[in-house]
Amino acid sequence: MSDARTSSSTEFGEGDRSRPAIARADGALLFDTTGRRYVDLGATHGVGNLGAAHPEVARAIRDQAGQLLVLGSGYANPVRTAFLDRLLGLLPPSFSRVFLSNSGTEAVEAAIKIARSATGRPKIVAARRGFHGRTLGALSATWRRELREPFEPLVPEFVHVAYNDASALAGAVDERTALLLLEPVQGEGGVHVGTPEYLRAARDACDRRGALLGFDEVQTGLGRTGRMFAFEHSGVVPDLLMLAKSLAGGVPIGATVTSSEVEGRFRGSHRSTFGGNPLACAAGLAALEVLTRERLPERAERLGRQAAPILAGLPADRVREVRGLGLMWGIELRDRAAPVLAALEARGYLAIPAGATVVRLLPPLVIAEEDWLGGLSALGEAIAHG
Ligand SMILES: Cc1ncc(COP(=O)(O)O)c(C=O)c1O
Repeated sequence: MSDARTSSSTEFGEGDRSRPAIARADGALLFDTTGRRYVDLGATHGVGNLGAAHPEVARAIRDQAGQLLVLGSGYANPVRTAFLDRLLGLLPPSFSRVFLSNSGTEAVEAAIKIARSATGRPKIVAARRGFHGRTLGALSATWRRELREPFEPLVPEFVHVAYNDASALAGAVDERTALLLLEPVQGEGGVHVGTPEYLRAARDACDRRGALLGFDEVQTGLGRTGRMFAFEHSGVVPDLLMLAKSLAGGVPIGATVTSSEVEGRFRGSHRSTFGGNPLACAAGLAALEVLTRERLPERAERLGRQAAPILAGLPADRVREVRGLGLMWGIELRDRAAPVLAALEARGYLAIPAGATVVRLLPPLVIAEEDWLGGLSALGEAIAHG
């Protein structure tokens, strides 16, 4: 446990006081308390698809704050209704029901509970290297041993299979399986792109065994991978879709989206006091408006296509593999990522890790083209010269 007044420990997310103190954002730029400018290449792990202070989102929050901040989920609310309609309008028609919460972890917890209750089955199949959050249910689906071990025993009946291995699914998804939970692109695990064949095999395995397929798009959703939702790359539509991070333009939110058919089989109760509050819904409505009007998924795809050959040209003696699509890239180094991230920071670019050896680029989708290209060239320099 750290003392926030003296320590720079980040275990409780209090912020490392030895690093720049960020005070303000403008598009994909961040400014510290001394006024120094940084290009954001991490977007708070994908929250800031619109940057960290989009003016339309800020205006919607201000307007809504003056009208109605909170409201129990038992009442209807025009902003919530408009937000839900807008979200469902972006999704295939099979999706018609949304459980709103306040984080990605909660969106996953809801999916686990809905799947167990709707199928009457206990087993959850997830993938190695997967990340789904840190509460006990979501953590049980998360793979990394060091995240799990201090909190064991976790929730029973969770198993993990190799990612992108269709043959592993056939054995694991059985008549006791409630949910197969996958990220279409694994984010925290190092940016591994699920192949369309694998995701189709996942759909197939669930259909054959009567299990539900859940896609955790907390990080990949809302334009990040060059499509509005990453599942569009494969055309595989899940039964449960989890969204959070950028959904409300930076305001805490989580959403678990499903069909009326699945919701109709759900028994029991699952609620959240703050879930669906008008403030988050107003921010979400504004964020979805900007995302669609400015065609940001297409922009992500274009900037990603620009990046691919540049990243492929990084020196092979330092770089083991480059993976990604849209504005979601993992550069797996032969050595540790931390020195490269520090060298990038010294040059004014703030990227993030994904495990010990992967530099992850997850910039706001609104990043200026020159800042994106500048970041890619700074990465090349940081890798070559430190
Ligand atoms: C794929 C995925 N699922 C779930 C989560 C958990 O989201 P939150 O931190 O909002 O609880 C994350 C967070 O990084 C994530 O990347």
